[in-house]
Amino acid sequence: MIEFKEVFFKYKDEEVLKNINVKIEPGDSVALIGANGSGKSTFLKLLNGIIFPTSGSYYFDNVKISQHKLEQSSFSKKFHKKMGFVFQNSDAQLFCSSVYEEVAFGPRQMGMDEAEVKKRVEDCLNLLNVKDLQNKEPYNISGGEKKRVAIAAVLALNPEVLILDEPMSGIDPKGKKFLNNLFIDLNKAGKTIICSTHDFEYVKGLFKRVLVFSEDHLLIKDDSYERIIEDNNFLTKYNIK
Ligand SMILES: Nc1ncnc2c1ncn2[C@@H]1O[C@H](COP(=O)(O)OP(=O)(O)OP(=O)(O)O)[C@@H](O)[C@H]1O
Ligand SMILES: [Mg+2]
Repeated sequence: MIEFKEVFFKYKDEEVLKNINVKIEPGDSVALIGANGSGKSTFLKLLNGIIFPTSGSYYFDNVKISQHKLEQSSFSKKFHKKMGFVFQNSDAQLFCSSVYEEVAFGPRQMGMDEAEVKKRVEDCLNLLNVKDLQNKEPYNISGGEKKRVAIAAVLALNPEVLILDEPMSGIDPKGKKFLNNLFIDLNKAGKTIICSTHDFEYVKGLFKRVLVFSEDHLLIKDDSYERIIEDNNFLTKYNIK
């Protein structure tokens, strides 16, 4: 479903991803780990078509993803309905005047009627336990609440692939356990989960696979979650633990 072939990416002069080759299949649950600045968020932005490879290719469902392709509104709509992206920084994601409007935004963009929009919004607000916040301005809620609202907004589109950039950051321990279970259930229901995280304690049982990025921006390991998490020497050497 997802394939990166020899992908390089530069912001201006600095190369921040080098020769990335990876395939991700439907139903996978993949953690991205690595030191600060190693390129995890950049990788996720490439996946979501926010930025494009400087060289190399990214294929989604066998279609090469490019700026030109995503400028075609019918393709872009289809692509963004399949891929949900929760940003590392919730303030970059939330922009509507109320929490309700925020969660309703995606379904409305997809042309759903108001009855369907209302149902989806209510389901997702309840699922993330943020119903009480529905009339508040997203700007004026707490960091952890913003994260939950951003996740609700993405789930409202019922995407096949959930791309999560540090979804646990700023969430309290109870909330982390709750989110971990939610992501496990979504994965069991067939959703593909791709998630960057510095958090090992609360992601038990979620990931089948881990991609490790190094400080010099290479994908240095692609292996099972168990094998990587038990390899303390490796995790220490690469400043992951
Ligand atoms: N918009 C940008 N312009 C220029 N450089 C950038 C930009 N965004 C990120 N970078 C640089 O690219 C590199 C990779 O950043 P990225 O955000 O992908 O790292 P990360 O692995 O997600 O880190 P973290 O664990 O801190 O979230 C860093 O050196 C960062 O400073
Ligand atoms: Mg990041």
